[in-house]
Amino acid sequence: MRARHTVRRFDNLDALSRAAADELSDLARAAVAARGTCRLALSGGSTPKHLFELLVQAGRPALPWDQIELWWVDERAVPPDHADSNYGMARRTLIDPLGLAGSRIHRMAGELDPEAAAQAYAHALVGALGTPPVFDLVLLGMGPDGHTASLFPGSAGLAETERWVIANQVTSPLVHGTATRITLTAPAINAARHVRFLVAGADKAGALAEVLEGADNPERFPSQLIAPADLVWLVDALAAASLKERHDPRR
Ligand code: 6PG
Repeated sequence: MRARHTVRRFDNLDALSRAAADELSDLARAAVAARGTCRLALSGGSTPKHLFELLVQAGRPALPWDQIELWWVDERAVPPDHADSNYGMARRTLIDPLGLAGSRIHRMAGELDPEAAAQAYAHALVGALGTPPVFDLVLLGMGPDGHTASLFPGSAGLAETERWVIANQVTSPLVHGTATRITLTAPAINAARHVRFLVAGADKAGALAEVLEGADNPERFPSQLIAPADLVWLVDALAAASLKERHDPRR
């Protein structure tokens, strides 16, 4: 039986993103106060974009950006300037607008052979964070099929219990066929101090109900693999539409 989830339901993506920005600020400040740094892992896709816009609007003083290290949850096998690059999206919408220092930015090398890129990233991760690599905060999204990171239904990466970063071959209409992605594994994500899912949109409602309230079926709904010490789902009303339990925005 899965641990009970904490779900915060918001009227819309804007309210969800503002709450996510507040949580990020609180958790980052606490991490810096406790350990002098905040190791933050970002997901790609479209949901985080509004959060990034809000962080830019708030400006550098809003967070201890000089003590925040940026890492990535996953990356497509494309160069950093490619339209599909998760790093490229963060660079355009967050890193460049805030003028964040390159020395604290740790992107996955999507331009390399995915296996080599995964091994290099795992090495860098362990070198910086130790074993297990403990992120202070991991921001996750969830696809309409219940995937998270690049842990897609039926992919070999779901069974990974040893490595922290892998090259995962995925077959899904969401990647327009078959593609290899570089991704953190469930053990790497679950080692984090805090994990926050940001899930918005009607197309996520079915999968969200299955992940949170359905039978244990991580092969079909990989987001069920995520079970860190502290997990909170921030969802909008559209994504929450099929949930039996009503949730509120309060922490
Ligand atoms: C990616 C992400 C992926 C994303 C989900 C949700 O590389 O695309 O890491 O796991 O979080 O696909 O994407 P949206 O936010 O676009 O719905």
